[in-house]
Amino acid sequence: MLIAQLSDLHVQPPGVLAYGVVDTNPFVERAFKAVVALDPKPDVVLLTGDLTDLGTDAEYDALGGLIRRHLGLPVYLIPGNHDRREGIKARLGHLPGVAADPRFVQYVIEDLPVRLVMLDSIVPEQGHGELCAERLAFLERALAAAPQQPALVALHHPPFLTGIAHMDEVSLRNPDAFEAVIRRHPQVERILCGHAHRPIVVRFGGSLAQVAPSVAHQVTLDLRPDGPATFNFEPPAFLLHHWRPEGKLVTHQVYVGEFAGPHPFDMDEG
Ligand SMILES: [Fe+2]
Ligand SMILES: [Fe+2]
Repeated sequence: MLIAQLSDLHVQPPGVLAYGVVDTNPFVERAFKAVVALDPKPDVVLLTGDLTDLGTDAEYDALGGLIRRHLGLPVYLIPGNHDRREGIKARLGHLPGVAADPRFVQYVIEDLPVRLVMLDSIVPEQGHGELCAERLAFLERALAAAPQQPALVALHHPPFLTGIAHMDEVSLRNPDAFEAVIRRHPQVERILCGHAHRPIVVRFGGSLAQVAPSVAHQVTLDLRPDGPATFNFEPPAFLLHHWRPEGKLVTHQVYVGEFAGPHPFDMDEG
């Protein structure tokens, strides 16, 4: 099974530029087209938050239109700090799981070879994330319900410090409580995050936590303790998680763009 994870779309009303610079919708369109052009095609698509830039109904409508026009695959999404639960539920409530919980946008997808536990880590109007007691209890229940079945846990905020100062100021606030739950459930193959707009991996709770790059703008790699908050246009990318028949989750980073090749390796033969 192939799972495409796209993150930090920051969709806007058509023609509006994020930070006055990024025209995110064409980036999203190119990423969606790259996903469906893959052969074999992914089975499902995960959108790990910051679906829109400001959380307006118009932006959710724009995202809904992009999904309808370009994707044609099952889509499972979670909110990011730029999103609004009310907007997601109002405009994208037809997508699976979105309406499952009356308060949060969180749910479990059971009918795939790998269970998907989709977690809502946002705090309204705040950049940082948090898993309150209610959400941690949901996670605990979800994982305890099928201890033998491999699971992926998705949440927008990385539950660890990345070393990028301005992102760490808005990370998940209670990573230890989250890590304790993960540690109790060794069937968790991977924790899938967004938010940091860069590819980052760390060992976490006996599993692996992984941040997907953005399909639009990237956060500048800057590990200085006082590094300013900046972004750049390194190549947009998404993650392709391949659940293999031998029971391993193998993850590829897929760059979105036009690149020379493919060239055969056997040019000098004959
Ligand atoms: Fe983002
Ligand atoms: Fe974010």
